[in-house]
Amino acid sequence: MHKLLLDIPGCIETERLYIRCYKPGDGKWYFAMSQKNRKHLAQFESENVVMGVNSEEEAEILVRDLAAEWTARNCFFMGAFDKKTDEFIAQIYIGPVNWKIPEFQIGYFVDVDHEGQGYVTEAVKAALRFIFKYLKAHRVRLECDDTNVRSYRVAERCGMVREGYFRENKKNPDGSFSGTLHYGILSKELDALNYRA
Ligand SMILES: CC(C)(COP(=O)(O)OP(=O)(O)OC[C@H]1O[C@@H](n2cnc3c(N)ncnc32)[C@H](O)[C@@H]1OP(=O)(O)O)[C@@H](O)C(=O)NCCC(=O)NCCS
Repeated sequence: MHKLLLDIPGCIETERLYIRCYKPGDGKWYFAMSQKNRKHLAQFESENVVMGVNSEEEAEILVRDLAAEWTARNCFFMGAFDKKTDEFIAQIYIGPVNWKIPEFQIGYFVDVDHEGQGYVTEAVKAALRFIFKYLKAHRVRLECDDTNVRSYRVAERCGMVREGYFRENKKNPDGSFSGTLHYGILSKELDALNYRA
């Protein structure tokens, strides 16, 4: 099916979270969140769009741009928020790798004050359901640094399979090397897990 014909909900829910696309007006809190999380994201997410934000205006431009990208089905950035307090909890990124398969990649970070509470696992499970159900994916993949234990634990808790390992393929600012782990999950594998919607 053509990507523009897909009916994609702008918001999904889990037990504790609602997870939605960004919209005009999100710039103010997005800027504050970006500043708070700078140090937290420096090691593994230095390339994330959130790291390029230096003012409230830039944040507003970014969220409007991401909303437009969503509408065009170019990529899908979602914020996860606490259902009770509306506080920002995490960001999920979903990017098309190949619409013909279709294959997508997923990425994520949690707000520094909400790490270690299972929110990301909850959000990623929901995001995988979203990708397979609404984007009609055949497979989803994830790449992560081999020293990022917290990240690959999320992938494994969500049932993703370790498919590959590039050893020492990155040079870090301190001169050390780290490798890249490749995870993937197929539509039929999500069927076998008990968290399919
Ligand atoms: C990677 C990252 C998203 C992982 O976040 P996280 O908070 O560890 O992941 P979760 O929210 O799923 O929380 C899992 C932890 O909460 C605990 N937990 C508490 N309550 C829980 C619940 N109800 N359900 C599941 N886990 C729960 C788990 O035991 C686990 O702790 P452990 O790892 O010490 O065993 C986070 O460390 C991060 O943002 N890092 C910087 C950016 C980054 O590296 N992104 C990934 C790039 S590939």
